[in-house]
Amino acid sequence: MRSPTLPVSSVPLSTNKHLLRWVEKMAELTRPASIHWVDGSEEEYDALCAEMVASGTFIQLNEERWPGCYLARSDASDVARVEDRTFICSLSKDSAGPTNNWVNPYEMRRTLKDLFRGCMRGRTMYVLPFSMGPIDSPMSQIGVELTDSPYVVVNMRIMARIGLPVFKEIDKDTKRVVPCMHSVGAPLVAGQEDVPWPCNRTKYIVHFPETREIWSYGSGYGGNALLGKKCFALRIASNIARDEGWMAEHMLILGVEDPQGEKTYVAAAFPSACGKTNFAMLIPPEGFEGWKIWTVGDDIAWIKPDANGQLYAINPEAGFFGVAPGTSPKTNPNAIAMLSKNTIFTNVALTPDGGVWWEGLTDEPPEECVDWQGNRWTPETGRQTGAKAAHPNARFTAPASQCPSIDPRWEDPNGVPISAIIFGGRRAKTIPLVYQAFNWSAGVYVGATMGSETTAAAAGAVGKVRRDPMAMLPFCGYHMGDYFRHWLKMQKSLSVTPKIFSVNWFRKDEEGRFLWPGFSQNMRILKWIVDRARSRAVAKETPIGWMPRHQDVEWRGLDFPVEKFDELQAFDRASWRSEVIGHEELFIDLHDHLPPEMIYERELLICRL
Ligand code: GTP
Ligand code: SPV
Ligand code: MN
Repeated sequence: MRSPTLPVSSVPLSTNKHLLRWVEKMAELTRPASIHWVDGSEEEYDALCAEMVASGTFIQLNEERWPGCYLARSDASDVARVEDRTFICSLSKDSAGPTNNWVNPYEMRRTLKDLFRGCMRGRTMYVLPFSMGPIDSPMSQIGVELTDSPYVVVNMRIMARIGLPVFKEIDKDTKRVVPCMHSVGAPLVAGQEDVPWPCNRTKYIVHFPETREIWSYGSGYGGNALLGKKCFALRIASNIARDEGWMAEHMLILGVEDPQGEKTYVAAAFPSACGKTNFAMLIPPEGFEGWKIWTVGDDIAWIKPDANGQLYAINPEAGFFGVAPGTSPKTNPNAIAMLSKNTIFTNVALTPDGGVWWEGLTDEPPEECVDWQGNRWTPETGRQTGAKAAHPNARFTAPASQCPSIDPRWEDPNGVPISAIIFGGRRAKTIPLVYQAFNWSAGVYVGATMGSETTAAAAGAVGKVRRDPMAMLPFCGYHMGDYFRHWLKMQKSLSVTPKIFSVNWFRKDEEGRFLWPGFSQNMRILKWIVDRARSRAVAKETPIGWMPRHQDVEWRGLDFPVEKFDELQAFDRASWRSEVIGHEELFIDLHDHLPPEMIYERELLICRL
């Protein structure tokens, strides 16, 4: 007979002693009612979805129009990443740096132990093994997430490679496994009825970089809970990458194929909700017949030099957790095709015919729908109260394999060669549409000093310009100054250094309208970037870098006047003076770890201004 204090467990799917012991220890701490070893099968996925439909966490969408699709509505207090509750608990505060929240790891472990004690009571603890990167890739990394959220399990099945093949890897015992503890922090007492989206007001998203561990408490949403994504593939992986001489970046990866069949891959770092998914799935506009954009990844890139000093990148993820609002057949037809089946929607609106809607999906809103909080919504009530039908950070979780533009090499275990790196923020003013940095260290400076307006992807104020170096401010798992140093150092292992560019799709005119049409038209800028990377496009020198003139950009199919282009590219000395003062503010914070190259680059920039 099993002891009544032990939870009911499905048959362990691993023979790895360390794993078995850890699961046992964590079950003892968290006291789940049962343990479920996740095999990753379709049957298991379907059964979990059915359970969540029964419990009210999921609503199954219209099976004819939206086969295999579900809608989840989160608790209104759990809708985005919580940066102020995210911690890097390195042994010394100095290793985490001033841009991360730090707590002494011993103190944090005590706090977590108290929080996790009994926190899974009445729930199932899922043992969820996952691989970030194709399992057969030399660049892939393995984790096991113990979670009490079936929503996390089904989302992770889309976002990562999970289940039996990963247990098999773990049993070989050749790769270090990153333990990831996750609880929504809502234990159930006997007889207590569950809510559709259990979570806790108290939230902790904690990383121990030295021991490579993740502990997440209180949230079930996105990057807070799908621990393979930001927590592992960026915050922990950035530490591993620094130690091992590669880079873990908040970047999309795409391939540009020209009409002759020549393919050029680029990686681009834009902050959260600043256009990565859209850019990665771009469909070339009129005038670009014969051109094709291939998608490798839309959020994270692991980039490593090969033996010849050429950078190669893999997408560690297997799905896309994309922003729904603004996604439409006009702006991103590939995404719309991708999410027509087998997709989980979170915090979008539900239409009367069992479909989904969000702001921007269609020009005309539906006559009525149920908003993301479960209330009746009409265009009229929306106008009166200002309430949105979908939350601004509403998301879809869809398999990458369903994306029509997915690159044939997207699962290449060795990755794809990277020829250019693009940094881009959301800036209404100052930053031109595009320019190229003079060289690698000047490019690192451009990335390091990037600014962007905050978005709904993180809890807090929206629309405030903040420094977001390389779009990694919320994701770099160590001191930002050391991160810049690592970027600079990377050049030493490269025989060909990718060219570095800055883009800004979001510059506005005096009336607050976007100056640039964006989306598919970004192809024109991308073509110039590829041509520059291949040393065959003309540019003019400016104080901040190389810029295309109007005649250097392909305008076939779009009537875009010179004056408007000049407004987009305008370099304003006065605004750049205050921009450089903004750089200085970041540098003051990082001063004792800031590589001297960053100071020199700033001085050179000031001289040119
Ligand atoms: P995360 O998943 O949070 O990392 O976001 P992301 O960087 O992938 O951003 P995404 O492509 O989802 O775009 C976010 C928002 O920006 C959406 O509402 C888009 O409609 C909008 N957007 C994307 N590209 C453009 C563009 O070229 N111009 C304009 N004006 N808006 C854009
Ligand atoms: C981001 O915020 O950059 C995202 C969404 O990609 S989340 O997975 O929640 O971090
Ligand atoms: Mn992101």
